[in-house]
Amino acid sequence: MDLSRFLLKNYQNKLNNGSVTWSSPSNIALVKYWGKKEHQIPENPSISFTLDSCKTITKLIYSKKNEVDNNFDFEVYLDEELKPDFHPKIETFFKRIESYVPFLKEFKFTIKTKNTFPHSSGIASSASGMSALALCIMSIEKQLNSNLSEEEFIKKASFLARLGSGSACRSLEGDLVVWGKHPNIEGSNDLFGVKYPYKVHEIFKDYNDTILLVDKGEKQVSSTVGHNLMHGHPFASQRFDQAIDNITKIKSILESGDLDQFMALVESEALTLHAMMMTSMPYFILMKPNTLEIINKIWQFRQETGLPVCFTLDAGANVHVLYPNKYKDKIYEFIKAQLVAYCQNGHYICDKIGFGAKQL
Ligand code: PMV
Repeated sequence: MDLSRFLLKNYQNKLNNGSVTWSSPSNIALVKYWGKKEHQIPENPSISFTLDSCKTITKLIYSKKNEVDNNFDFEVYLDEELKPDFHPKIETFFKRIESYVPFLKEFKFTIKTKNTFPHSSGIASSASGMSALALCIMSIEKQLNSNLSEEEFIKKASFLARLGSGSACRSLEGDLVVWGKHPNIEGSNDLFGVKYPYKVHEIFKDYNDTILLVDKGEKQVSSTVGHNLMHGHPFASQRFDQAIDNITKIKSILESGDLDQFMALVESEALTLHAMMMTSMPYFILMKPNTLEIINKIWQFRQETGLPVCFTLDAGANVHVLYPNKYKDKIYEFIKAQLVAYCQNGHYICDKIGFGAKQL
């Protein structure tokens, strides 16, 4: 694997102090990434919808150190509150990316971050958070090296984001992003996410994702622990083959606009992700009784009305309800009347397909 394109060999400009701000969204996988090799290389390709309203806004304030030492010097604030407990994760991220952005130790950083969704919503902020931070770091690189093209900027930002949190590399662009090498997706690779390069049917252009917050607590299983459960998992290789196959299938579904096939594939992916956790050692059940209540209600409503509403899940109990905008009125009424009662404190988030990160 040739990583040399991401090395910053020399930078001609001088930079003292300033700040950069990026807003970066979350994403929801249709074909899931679950299982990784060393250096955050995915065991299988994945594809996601980029979201719109669930995002992280990060301001990176930098000032040049008088003398360069051997430390990463930074403070992290969430909603203006100093967060020493975020330090280890960001220190690990900086260590992983240092060889590609060798200027990190030359600056003192203040990282000010906030999410548009509540921190304790059970919605992972790592995809939006790590992609926003990676973009801020790339904006510094761009100032040091003005030769960097837009295309290389975004690829390298995705490459860095991946080293923070795998799925973060799918959050920079929209509206569909593929990460992980797949023979039928041109340009796809394990190092960074790429915008889905083929024709997509109109019906998928304005999909909604209503996120039902069934459990707003901390994740029961961290994604690091979760991915590791795939090592030596009895069904691992079948699962990775299935994901490869599902990417091939979703390619033709995205082109044809066949919603029945889309819903079957997406729901099967969600349940397979959870099945992997139930059949690993140790084993976990990440759904809650209300997750199942919601799933059954969706199936019942779909059968009765024929409306194209389906669900997907992350590695937790919350349910993402997916449906085309064309059917929004009826489906949103159903969600409010029949599903919101299963949410913790009645909380849910209305999101939809988005088009990626923005510099502010
Ligand atoms: O990016 P990570 O390491 O937090 O893994 C996320 C994995 C899932 O969200 C469960 C699936 C996916 O592809 O996003």
